Amino acid sequence: MISDFIGIDFGTSNCAVAAWVDNKPTLIVVDENSENPYKIRSAIYLTNDESGTVSNNAQDNQQTLTEMLTSGEILFGEQGFNAFLLTPDEGRYVNSPKNFLGAKIPKRLLDNFEILVIRFLSYLKHCAEKQLNKTITKAVIARPVNYHSTMGELGNQQAEALMLRAAHKVGFEAVEFIHEPLAAAYHFEQSITQSTKAMIVDLGGGTSDVTFCSLSKDKADKLDREEDIFSTQGIRQGGIMSDKDLANGLVSPLFGRGGRTADDRALPNMLFFGAYSIDNMPDMTNFYTPQRAKLITDYIIESADPIPLMRLQRVQKNRLTHQLMHAIELAKINLSDSQQTCLDLCFVEKNLSISMTRDQVSETMTQWLSKMFTMIDGAIKEGNQQPEIIYLTGGMGLSPLVQQALSERYPDVEMNVADAFSSVVLGALLKAKRLYS
Ligand SMILES: Nc1ncnc2c1ncn2[C@@H]1O[C@H](COP(=O)(O)OP(=O)(O)OP(=O)(O)O)[C@@H](O)[C@H]1O
Ligand SMILES: [Mg+2]
Repeated sequence: MISDFIGIDFGTSNCAVAAWVDNKPTLIVVDENSENPYKIRSAIYLTNDESGTVSNNAQDNQQTLTEMLTSGEILFGEQGFNAFLLTPDEGRYVNSPKNFLGAKIPKRLLDNFEILVIRFLSYLKHCAEKQLNKTITKAVIARPVNYHSTMGELGNQQAEALMLRAAHKVGFEAVEFIHEPLAAAYHFEQSITQSTKAMIVDLGGGTSDVTFCSLSKDKADKLDREEDIFSTQGIRQGGIMSDKDLANGLVSPLFGRGGRTADDRALPNMLFFGAYSIDNMPDMTNFYTPQRAKLITDYIIESADPIPLMRLQRVQKNRLTHQLMHAIELAKINLSDSQQTCLDLCFVEKNLSISMTRDQVSETMTQWLSKMFTMIDGAIKEGNQQPEIIYLTGGMGLSPLVQQALSERYPDVEMNVADAFSSVVLGALLKAKRLYS
């Protein structure tokens, strides 16, 4: 028997879909080009950018983007990312749309993100329908406790309303949401043998969330679990933020940060502002302004060592922020399996690379980790009791630095690290099953 409902994890870095088939959960193939076909990079490449160039008129750009999003060809996931790397000037690359759904941005721009979400959800729905050979009409979509926003709860409402409209437009008749860490909790609950007080920690690309709750085998089919939740917290810092800290700490000196002018003045940090901001459109736009280009050129002339700033100039001129942050993310991921890695920056300058060790990266993560601790401590305090187990999920949970830091901080709590990329979607599916079957 095949369900007509699915669970969707619409993540900042990756999306996943799961369905209920023959009385068990089944992950949907969403990206055949990915190493793990059950997750797809949350990115698209719009290929029919006939203008090729970006106009100075923001309204023209929005209009072009609207047309491309509505009727143009879209390459999703790895295919889109690879096309962008090969021909960055022949289309438009947009990644992590989720970062912008709760943002205080002009309506026109938000409308474009809505069209993008419609196209992405439609792609995911199509993947499920193709694999299952069945029309899917119902979905539970996982959402973060707090979306990226400067508007607080209003930002959450804006984002959820946008997701709901988009889901209805692609043909889902029934749509419900679930907090991402609660979804992970539902999934984890399927595997426990005795009741436990669990701190579910979901460390994603854009947000980090926790749900502190009581889990037990005999409640595992119940829909309403309000009374089992001790506390829920979510912060707008995920893996992308740790990549930015890594860029600022270890990589930035290659681009001149910390350098001095010939007459011994410090180079202003302002030069680098927004250079790594893949998650903040106004900041990234600011980095690419002609004013910034001029400032960098001025300091190249004044600098004691112009070479690093000339690299920054190349990043600016060739709009290399996405490539740079992708390379940095890859280096971070490599360091989860080895003590040392090489960050290859040949796309900035021939033979440019930097070797980095896990220990060095650890130093750039101090602030990031302390925010995670504050969130978890807050959940323990609000829950007014101690957790017995930490269930760690989400991509950043795969980092040995994160695992070790959590073990040291909470030495008496058992740690379970599992299903980094599937626990949220499988939990969303469980809610869908409880709701719709
Ligand atoms: N092996 C690894 N070691 C360290 N970090 C990793 C590893 N694999 C992935 N990551 C990081 O995990 C993050 C992505 O995790 P995940 O796919 O859970 O996020 P997401 O669900 O898309 O985002 P969110 O839940 O915030 O919307 C990225 O920052 C990525 O760099
Ligand atoms: Mg996630």
